[in-house]
Amino acid sequence: EIHRASTTAPVNIAVIKYWGKRDPKLNLPTNSSLSVTLSQSDLRTHTTASCSPTYTHDELILNGSSQDVSGARTQACFRELRTLRKQLETTNPSLPALSSMPLKIVSENNFPTAAGLASSAAGFAALVRSIANLYELPASPTELSRIARQGSGSACRSLFGGYVGWEQGSQPDGSDSLAFEVAPASHWPTMRAVILVVSAAKKGVSSTTGMQTTVATSSLFPVRANDTVPRRMAEMQTAIQERDFESFAKLTMMDSNSFHATCLDTWPPIFYLNDVSRAAIKAVEAINHAAGKIVAAYTFDAGPNAVVYFEEENEGIVAGALRKLVGEKEGWKGEAKSDDAVVEK
Ligand code: DP6
Repeated sequence: EIHRASTTAPVNIAVIKYWGKRDPKLNLPTNSSLSVTLSQSDLRTHTTASCSPTYTHDELILNGSSQDVSGARTQACFRELRTLRKQLETTNPSLPALSSMPLKIVSENNFPTAAGLASSAAGFAALVRSIANLYELPASPTELSRIARQGSGSACRSLFGGYVGWEQGSQPDGSDSLAFEVAPASHWPTMRAVILVVSAAKKGVSSTTGMQTTVATSSLFPVRANDTVPRRMAEMQTAIQERDFESFAKLTMMDSNSFHATCLDTWPPIFYLNDVSRAAIKAVEAINHAAGKIVAAYTFDAGPNAVVYFEEENEGIVAGALRKLVGEKEGWKGEAKSDDAVVEK
């Protein structure tokens, strides 16, 4: 007999970035962060978890290929979820002993991994929720965010939709380092995002390694983590509550620049932006200059692809100019998602 459950989890793109760990094992961050969830029709991971006494070992299959499950991050998620299931089984002995059966996780992204888009966030969020569903755990998204965070820090923000914060917390065991909803997607229904995919987008330095080196060597980093980000976290939440696009956009761009500045200030230096990325920054600046106000905001994660946020009413000028850039500039693979990239739950 095979027990089975499925779920999907969305991709999230931080507008206040997580960069730095105070505990690399539990993925406890040195600063809080905040992200916007992208539309699940465009970018999401679909995952089915199953378990059976006939399975011989834990297994994880991503986009058709078998993955190593022995890594500490995957193991931490499995262990935490099995412990919760075991508690249920202990208080309710009539339940099948799923916690002692091997697990099989089958995961598919609906976007090309080759596009170089971050998928670990949606991946671990979907893994954790599919197993929680399989185990029929009464766990809240907040509780699941604590577990998904141990898979990949940014994954904790993919347990909610809309505008999502991740409170850094102060407890050594990470019990207060959790995701929380800032606002549902419906709060700001005119928000749009477009992803400009740079061809041959390959990560030079992984975010896990990169942020450790930044913490160890950058002199800009303590100012960012202890002063700049806490201030902007508060300002960003206000901007979102008030649907103040200009403030949202300015904070988003400044935080992306601050994050990439600490990367450059890392020793040896880390470069995620390339000439094509800088062309996108210039294009957004030109769009805003021509509009006479801020109507578009760029942000970049640990890679050269740009995510540009704008409001529906400015779709024509923003998406139009970006399409022109993609058409003219060499190096763009294209827009991963354009006008239909509605930011929703
Ligand atoms: C630049 O969540 O991938 O995208 O916790 O080591 O798995 P690990 O790191 P990860 O880092 C994401 C870094 C970022 C910023 C962000 O998403 O907040």
